[in-house]
Order: sequence, then structure tokens, then C-alpha cells
Amino acid sequence: MRATFLKFAAGLSAVAILAPAGHAATYDTLTGEAPIVVAHRGASGYLPEETLGSYELAIRLGADYIEPDVQMTSDGHLVAMHDSTLTRTTDVEDLFEQRNGSYRVGDFTLAEIKSLTVNPTGALSKPDSTYPGFTPSMADPYKVPTLDEVLGFLADYNSDNGTSVGIYPESKHPFDAEKNAKIVQSLKNHGFTDATDKVILQSFARESVIDLGNLLGQNGMIAEVAQLGSVRQEEGAYGVSGSDGFYNLESIAQIATGVGVSYGGITEAFIREAHGLGLKVHAYTFRPLSEEEAFAMMTPLLSWGLDGFFTDYTDFGRTVVDAMQPAPVPLPAAMPMLLAGLGGLAWMRRRKKAA
Ligand code: G3P
Ligand code: CA
Repeated sequence: MRATFLKFAAGLSAVAILAPAGHAATYDTLTGEAPIVVAHRGASGYLPEETLGSYELAIRLGADYIEPDVQMTSDGHLVAMHDSTLTRTTDVEDLFEQRNGSYRVGDFTLAEIKSLTVNPTGALSKPDSTYPGFTPSMADPYKVPTLDEVLGFLADYNSDNGTSVGIYPESKHPFDAEKNAKIVQSLKNHGFTDATDKVILQSFARESVIDLGNLLGQNGMIAEVAQLGSVRQEEGAYGVSGSDGFYNLESIAQIATGVGVSYGGITEAFIREAHGLGLKVHAYTFRPLSEEEAFAMMTPLLSWGLDGFFTDYTDFGRTVVDAMQPAPVPLPAAMPMLLAGLGGLAWMRRRKKAA
């Protein structure tokens, strides 16, 4: 009897070793894993958005993924910057004259952009860009970083701390083949090439979603790709309206692994239809100003099986997800996992004997 118990326990521990994290219990998400918390432009509610300091704080606050938006400078460098112009977030107007009647990122060189400082814009940010108890680990934490610098920072952080925080870069529309190729090359250069490296690429432009998927394939890389936009229903079919039109979920499922959609339009039926087609649903952008508000905003969508969300306040999002009670794995689903675990144990024993 005792032996039987021990064997059973060994099988279970093998399940724990071999099953993907989160499968011991199940959520109503597509994979059964916990919804992901995506740090939207870093901890942008507290610190200057899309900066290394902001990404570092977001990770410390519990982000599963950090999100950089990607724009290209006049000399072809990729930088983390949401807007196509530099005015809202930086001190560019104090330091430079307009170019071509504006302050477009694409009209400035990387060296010029590096001379700027990013200002705090989040609703809970402080004018001196501080956050209680947090000291950024890098020099100049509030400069505009290149995508290379964001990836280098994340790779080092994960390796130094034994973490596996992912990255969710957005190729800003309009479609730009050169920019997409550089994004994928940069990921490759920094070793973000496999599913375990947790990369999700995203764009509002369908052409970019297709292009990014093709580039991943050509480079032998594995990553998820999300079509961004707003939820729409046309002729009875749910879909997403991106920067270049409406596409139904069936057609999105041919080119992407998920959709990133504005949270206000999400319904339970939309999530169910997306999941039926194998698509994850990520919501943008939750900006609750308190934990209480976060629970009120996020709980309904999470109860419908939302797979993750973008938020400016990683800490509030983390609290809400951690408070969710996953259902125990029901027996019919648990049995294959147990058998897989026992099979894995036998495989490990055979390897040990052979060695
Ligand atoms: O990428 C998801 C979300 O960030 C889309 O909105 O405008 O903040 O990039 P935006
Ligand atoms: Ca974005």
C-alpha cells in the first residue's frame, strides 16, 4: 500500500516537472495557464514610459511581459517609443527646432534622440521620476532606449535573477518591412528565438502581422504574433478592426496566435469564439488608479477566460491575477497528465540506467 502511494507520489512529482507551469490547476484561458500581466510601456503609470527604469520597475512589480512600442530613427535605429513624434514624452521642444514642421521620431538621428530625457506622464507618477523604494540599476534610466538595449537589459535581468519575463514588442503602424526585419533580427541577436524565451510580436497593421510571422519562420524562430485592434461584429462574425480594415477571427487565426483588443469591446462570446479558433485574447489598456478599481475593471473579463492584459499599473494587475482561484484539474484531464508524468519518469529511469 505504501509502495503504491510512493509510486503515485513519484508520478505526480514527474507531472510537476514535466507539465508546463500552471497546468496543476486550470484557468478558463485558452491554455489553462494563468492570464498574463503585460507591463504596458513598462511601469508607465509611475515612471517615464518605455524607458529602462520603467521596465525594471515593472518587472519588480510582477510583470509577466514588458511591452515596448517600436519606432525607427532617421538613421535606421529601432527605439522604444509609443508616439510617432517626440513631443508628448520628451524635452525635445526645449532642445531642438522642428523638422519638416514637426518632431517626428523618423526625422531625428539616434544620437539626437539619445540627448533627450523622457518625462513622466502617468497619472500616478511623480514629477521627479521617482518611485518609493525603487532605485534603477542602470545609469541614465530615463533616456529613450533602443530595442537592442531593452532586449539586452531583459536578457541580463532574466539571467541574473533566474526569471523568465517575456517581451511583447509592437511594430508600430504603418507597415514597414525594414523595421519588421530589424525587430526580428534584434530578437535573434539577443537569443530570443524559442518558445521558452516568451516573445509575442504585435501590430495594428495586418500586413505587419503577416510579415512578422513570415520573418519568424524564415529565421527558424518560435514566437507568438497578435493582431491588434478593436472588437467588431460584421455579418454575425466577430473580428478585429485594425489600422487597415476589419478581419474576422477566422481569417486572423490563419496568420496570428492571438488578438490584442481594446477592453471595452470584449464580450464573453468574443472570447469563446476566439478560443474556439485557437486564438488567445489579450486586452488593452487597463489604467486603474487603485487596487479596488483594478478588481472592478478586470474581474469580469478574467472570469470570461481572458488570456492576459496590458496595464500601466503592473502591481494592481498582478494583485488581481494572483487573487484568482484556478479550478482543480478535473479527473479526465488529470489522467493524461498523470500518465505523461509516469511515462516521463520511466524515460528518466531508462536514461539513468543507460548512462
Ligand atoms: O499594444 C497594445 C496596446 O499598447 C495598444 O495601444 O496605443 O498603447 O500601443 P497603444
Ligand atoms: Ca502598444
